[in-house]
Parts: sequence; C-alpha cells; structure tokens
Amino acid sequence: MHLTLRQIEVFNAVARLQNYTRAAEELYLSQPAVSMQVKQLEESVGMPLFEQVGKKIYLTAAGLEMYNYSRSITQLLDEADDVFEALKGVRRGRLSVSVATTAGHFATRLLAEFSKQYADVTISLDITNREALRRQLEENEPDLVIMGQPPEGVEVDAEAFMGNPLVMIAPVDHALSGQKRIPLSHFALESFVVRETGSGTRGAIQRFFDRHGVVFHTGIEMSSNEAIKQAVEAGLGLGIVSIHTLELELETGRLKILDVEDFPIMRKWYILQRKGKRLSPVAQAFKAFVLEQAPQFIRLPSGF
Ligand code: PGA
Repeated sequence: MHLTLRQIEVFNAVARLQNYTRAAEELYLSQPAVSMQVKQLEESVGMPLFEQVGKKIYLTAAGLEMYNYSRSITQLLDEADDVFEALKGVRRGRLSVSVATTAGHFATRLLAEFSKQYADVTISLDITNREALRRQLEENEPDLVIMGQPPEGVEVDAEAFMGNPLVMIAPVDHALSGQKRIPLSHFALESFVVRETGSGTRGAIQRFFDRHGVVFHTGIEMSSNEAIKQAVEAGLGLGIVSIHTLELELETGRLKILDVEDFPIMRKWYILQRKGKRLSPVAQAFKAFVLEQAPQFIRLPSGF
C-alpha cells in the first residue's frame, strides 16, 4: 500500500465528521481536494471506504477497519509530537481531561492553577456523565479522567487523591435543622430530590441506604447538582450531595447540612487513565499536580 499521512489525516476527518464539506472546512482544504485524497487512499487499499446512502455517507466494512488504524496512527503521531516537545524542554502541548458532573465543580479551579505553571498548554475539559466517561475511556479519547469511582468493564490505572464526603442538605428553616445525630431510619418516610440514574452520587447513596436497611425514597430527578440545591432550597425535598458542590450556599445561609447518624457518606475522588496508556509529559505533569496538590486548591466548609 502506498498511502501517505496526509491521506490518513483527511480520511480521519471525513470519517469522524461523516461529511466531506465539514472535513474540508476543518482542514482548510477545498472539497475536491478532500475527495481526491480519499479516492487515492481507496485506490491504495483497493476497496471503497465510504458509501453514499441518500445524502449521507457511511463507512464500509473496509472503511471501519481503516478508521481504527487511522485513529491509532494519529494518536501515535500526537504522542510522538508531545515527546519531542518535552525533549526540547518545552512545556507545551495539549491536555484533554474529562470529568464526572460533580467533579466539574472543582476541576476548573485545578486546571486554572495548573495552567499558571503551564501557560502554553492547550486544555480541553469535558464535563459529562459516567456512561459517557466509560465510553471515552474505551475509545482511549481523554488523557485523564476524574470521577468518583473507577468504571466497571474498562481496565484503568486509578489513584485516589481526595475524599468526597456526601452530606444531607435541607432548607435553613427545616424542622430537623438544629437536631443532633438524627437516626437514618427517620428518613425512610422522606422523599429526596435525586440525581439521574447512572450518576455516581446517586449509586453511592442507594448502596448506603441498602447497607443500612433503610428505604430510600426518590422524588424528583435532576441531572445537575445546582438544580438539586435550588430545589431543596425551594422546599421540594431533602437532598444528598457532595460537599464539593457546596460553598456559597452554606456561607450565605441558604442551605443547612443536617447532622445525620453515619453521615457523611465517605467516598473518594480518583484520577485515572486507560490501562497501558502512554501519558504525554503534560498529562503526567497534570496527574502529579492533582495527586500532590489538589486538596490545597479546593475550599471546603469548616469541619470537612
Ligand atoms: P456524579 O459523581 O456522577 O454523581 O456527578 C461523580 C462520580 O461519582 O463519578
């Protein structure tokens, strides 16, 4: 096969975007130039890589195989690029970090601190749910992932770097707000404002109640911690959230943490990458920064 890296790069963009025009825009090429590169690649392979159905293009079986190889080739080239930059002593490169919804509350602060030391690093941050994180790890997309519990079904190298206590929150004027050591069984009759199924926080709460033999009544579901805090404040039910989502609400006296027996629910935050992944020097530096310094940049309410 006489294929060139340029053909691979163009093919990769067309396959990812499933569109010749958008690929041409992304690569600053004309559309005929893009079609020509793909055609030459198809001639080298000896088989069509795309098929057109109506207005859409799809990868053929050979195209899918080529896409797997072209992504690995592009990733290896990026890796090589990072290594040579590091050998030159340059603190440059790209860093892509994906984090679970709740970790989004502190990840921006960590990245901001990190980028003070690595000003020339281009950072991309994706804040998404556990299922998307699992898929991204399978596809080997992000350099690093921050989440509340390593995912099932994908082999990863995970290290814990900070506690993640979950606390029960109530409106300030709630009847239980001044009481001490409220028994968990008391809440079997309460309805909670909860995160969506699949959220790490939601799973941990459910397991905690199951372990203590207390029924956990889920009321309204919400996919954001911000929405849960507002709902609790408005009196729609009690909530259980990570301490890392609370800061202003406690300072400004809009919410109260209830003193419940066996609380807080103790969890941990993990930073992880797919097993066997070769981290770029910048990704290694970010991981070391998180493991060594993360807690000092994260403000917590007193007592935590
Ligand atoms: P979340 O929490 O999914 O509830 O946002 C993070 C995690 O536990 O992974």
